Amino acid sequence: MVITELEIFEGVGMTVTFEPIGTLFTPFSAAEGMPIQPSGARGVEGKIVLNEELQDGLMDLEGFSHVWVIYHLHGVIGGKLKVTPFLDSKPHGIFATRSPARPNPIGLSLFRVLGVSGREVHLSDVDVLDGTPVLDIKPFVADFDTADNARFGWFEGKSHAASSVVSDNRFVERRIP
Ligand SMILES: C[S@@+](CC[C@H](N)C(=O)[O-])C[C@H]1O[C@@H](n2cnc3c(N)ncnc32)[C@H](O)[C@@H]1O
Repeated sequence: MVITELEIFEGVGMTVTFEPIGTLFTPFSAAEGMPIQPSGARGVEGKIVLNEELQDGLMDLEGFSHVWVIYHLHGVIGGKLKVTPFLDSKPHGIFATRSPARPNPIGLSLFRVLGVSGREVHLSDVDVLDGTPVLDIKPFVADFDTADNARFGWFEGKSHAASSVVSDNRFVERRIP
C-alpha cells in the first residue's frame, strides 16, 4: 500500500472514537503497589466481561492459551513525551517505553486465558486497574508474534526486573474515574 503525504497529513488531525467492547475486572483498585507488567502478575486473576451484544465474537477463543488485550488506560494523568519509567532512573521518549502516560493512553498486555464462560473471559497475569475499558482482544499466535534478532534498547538487562518492581502513582490519578 502506498501512503500519500496527503493521507498522512489528514491522519494527524483525525479524531478516532472507539466504544469499549467490555470491562476488565481485576484485584487492583489503586496503582500503588500493583504489577507493572504481566511478568510481575503471574497467577493474578481477573476477567473481561464483554458487552452482551458482542458475545458471539468469543466463539473459539477457549482454544487459545493466551490473548493480547488492548485497553484504554482510563486513569492516566496525561500524555508526556519523555518519562522516567518504572524500570529506570533516567527519562526516555514515551514511544521507547511502556509507560501508561502516553499521548494516546492505550495499553497492551499478554494475558493467560483460564476459560471462557458466556460473555466472560477469565484471565491470569493481569497488570491493569479494576474497571479498565477493553478495546480489543486478539489471540496470541506464536508464529505471528515473534521477531528475529530482536534488540531491547534501554530495557536490555532491566526488563527482567518487571517481575518484581511494582507501580507507584507517578502516572495515574489517585482517584480513578
Ligand atoms: C507500565 S503499564 C504497562 C501496561 C501494559 N502491559 C503495556 O505494556 O502497555 C502498567 C501500569 O499502568 C498503570 N495502569 C494500569 N491500568 C491502568 C489504567 N486503567 N489507567 C491508568 N493506569 C493504569 C499501573 O501503574 C500499572 O502498573
